Amino acid sequence: MSAEHSENKIYPVPERLLSGPTKPFIDSFEQYQSLWQESVDNPSTFFAKAAREYLHWDTNFQTTCAGDFENGNVAWFLEGELNAAYNCVDRHAFATPDKVAIIHEGDDPNNVRKLTYKQLLQEVCRMANVLHGLDVRKGDNVAIYMPMIPETVIAMLACARLGAVHSVVFAGFSAESLYERIQDCGARVVITSDEGRRGGKTVATKRIVDEALQLPNLVDRVIVVKHTGTTSVSMTPSRDIWWHQEMANARPYHPVTVVSSEDPLFLLYTSGSTGTPKGVLHTTGGFLLGAAMTVKNIFDVHDDDIYACMADLGWITGHTYILYGPLCLGATTLLFESTPTYPTASRFWETVDKHKITQFYTAPTAIRALRRLGDEYVDRCNLSTLRVIGSVGEPINPEAWEWYYKKVGHSQCAVVDTYWQTETGSIVVSPLPGATPTKPGSATFPFFGIRPAILDPATGQELEGNDVTGVLAIKQPWPSMSRTIYNNHHRFMETYLKPYPGFYFTGDGATRDKDGYIWIRGRVDDVINVSGHRLSTSEIESALILDSSVAEAAVIGGHDDLTGQCIHAFCTLKPNMVSDTEKLIEGLIQQVRKSIGPFAKPKQVYVVSDLPKTRSGKILRRVLRKIVNNEADQLGDTSTMADPGIIQQLVDKVKQRH
Ligand code: WT7
Repeated sequence: MSAEHSENKIYPVPERLLSGPTKPFIDSFEQYQSLWQESVDNPSTFFAKAAREYLHWDTNFQTTCAGDFENGNVAWFLEGELNAAYNCVDRHAFATPDKVAIIHEGDDPNNVRKLTYKQLLQEVCRMANVLHGLDVRKGDNVAIYMPMIPETVIAMLACARLGAVHSVVFAGFSAESLYERIQDCGARVVITSDEGRRGGKTVATKRIVDEALQLPNLVDRVIVVKHTGTTSVSMTPSRDIWWHQEMANARPYHPVTVVSSEDPLFLLYTSGSTGTPKGVLHTTGGFLLGAAMTVKNIFDVHDDDIYACMADLGWITGHTYILYGPLCLGATTLLFESTPTYPTASRFWETVDKHKITQFYTAPTAIRALRRLGDEYVDRCNLSTLRVIGSVGEPINPEAWEWYYKKVGHSQCAVVDTYWQTETGSIVVSPLPGATPTKPGSATFPFFGIRPAILDPATGQELEGNDVTGVLAIKQPWPSMSRTIYNNHHRFMETYLKPYPGFYFTGDGATRDKDGYIWIRGRVDDVINVSGHRLSTSEIESALILDSSVAEAAVIGGHDDLTGQCIHAFCTLKPNMVSDTEKLIEGLIQQVRKSIGPFAKPKQVYVVSDLPKTRSGKILRRVLRKIVNNEADQLGDTSTMADPGIIQQLVDKVKQRH
């Protein structure tokens, strides 16, 4: 289906949502519109009320919002003091002690573990005591490198309880990437497991941690969860300790350390268009409010619901939508350790069926892959409990949207295509299930407090009205926005607040169509999105030139039907160093895996004699992008190139490897 076609296709709110026993919190488009208007016109009144409704404050705030984009000093609920773990665990452990907080769906579908709020509180307290005993205090950074198990949630909340700052590193990152992140945040304690298990395969988490910690005295302590227990891991004396041994001796209560609303809750590293990964910093009050408010309104989560976000805790989606959002509301959240296709392509749907899941949240890449494998895997499961099904991470193509809506949602569920970023903390553009008529492929309308603007990329002028395309920016501060990049506020300003003064710049292109619907068109910078995982071209290029025979490298994102984008790398070589090009290419792919992680593996590496450059020597990635995406006939003016003659050579090279 073409974009124009889907732009005209509108799906009303499914009747079942409005007439079913669970009435949506917001049940008409007019109600959404008036709430949104109020939220952007009077953000102080709107969010002060919301913050008191959603969160428990130990000290009341007087100032709702201060600071601005120009000065980069945005702060919310200033005098307020609270604790995130208290908000996510204690208060529910007292109100609904036996309610299930976490359902752990293990890699092996027969391994299911449930933790009630009461149990979760005890575990979080024990771990807080362990960390406290290791001298972890308010403001200290703790690195977490773990599989998708309840201990990961416990570790994160134990940090929050102490006012310590967790920095979770996705367990698909390499030892080098982990080292870089530990080094940057200065963590003295690392929490990991013996191993992880995903799709039946083993991830050697502890071994990778050991590799990352080769420099002596980089950290003081490594806490190791015995998860698989199948191999004996090496424990470094006086550094490594077993989680279960420490926990056995820890008291199951530890008081909370109340922090300022603006104290950091966590760091999460993400790729930018240039340089090393950035430690995106989120603070406590504003982040928690954004997380809880979006889960309640965008997923319409009610008391008896079973909510499932299939992301990994190592990414922002896991932080906001597996842990903080649902737990802050006192909901039941599912923790999924496996993959969509293990042991069969029915795994997601069997999980929905088994736990009677009501909200289900995943990524377009998984939807596309499952659609391709055939309907029978969905059809054999009972999905009738579902009410809201969500998508996140990249634009969802209309075909995948329709399949999700019809096959998974039986045309009776709201599809929420949720647009946001690590930096925005929570969803910023999305339909509301009971209120917004949807268009397949459009993230539709802004969430409360978000005033989106589409700017002319060249002039920075705001393009008002409908039927406009440009870059997406946000016009005023919202509670869950990132406050800074750890130890690098300059970079924060340069990346987000300086490019278009007075605006927060997202880095994405977007259209507002004739009906005012927002369509996200993808990144306009050098960020590549592979299966919803964010990578920077420069990071991959740096990994490639580590090979002594590579002279120059240029990386671009090519179109891929399954993963959205995929990585194509062009390399030139130093003279007379390589005899076997195929072997070199294999080696380069391995080098990237080793430097960054398996998910960053290039799909194609082209060894070429030269790269397209301007006369001043700047690499023209735009030209490479067109060649790879079969648009070499649309290169436009190539007269500024140093040597337009190399285009044909590159086209032939790319064809040859396809
Ligand atoms: C980038 C942020 C926070 C979600 C997980 C990824 C792209 C995200 C959508 C969507 C179109 C989307 C954007 C954004 N993106 N959601 N619904 N439609 N594009 O977080 O790693 O910080 O990446 O993901 O390009 O800038 P992230």
